Amino acid sequence: MIFDTGLTLKDLNSAPFRKITIEKEEIVIGKKDDHLFAFNNSCPHKGASLSKGRLNGDNIVCYMHGYEYNIFNGKLEDMKSWKKDSTWIEQNDQWRYSDDLKIYKIFSDNERIFVELNKTI
Ligand code: FES
Repeated sequence: MIFDTGLTLKDLNSAPFRKITIEKEEIVIGKKDDHLFAFNNSCPHKGASLSKGRLNGDNIVCYMHGYEYNIFNGKLEDMKSWKKDSTWIEQNDQWRYSDDLKIYKIFSDNERIFVELNKTI
């Protein structure tokens, strides 16, 4: 199903991305090099809010453990910075595991931005 985000292309000029909520899903929407992107706000690693992160090229960097996910295809690109400091101890072998990021189809029409929620890409 397609939803109007309530945002326009102009709204994305002042910030690299914004978090909105549609149908109880928190979605981060942004524009990079004139390409729109939309992904779920929950980090696939341990659920931190990705809207608190920052962009590194085409990746969103999670503020919690530094995992990086591509904002256009959702792929986990980098987890080398997971160890915040030398004293960090893994809780178990599965601790580092992460799925890819959930992303959404997004498009604009007459300056307004729309996302498709039931179809991930
Ligand atoms: S919760 Fe995002 S990298 Fe761990």
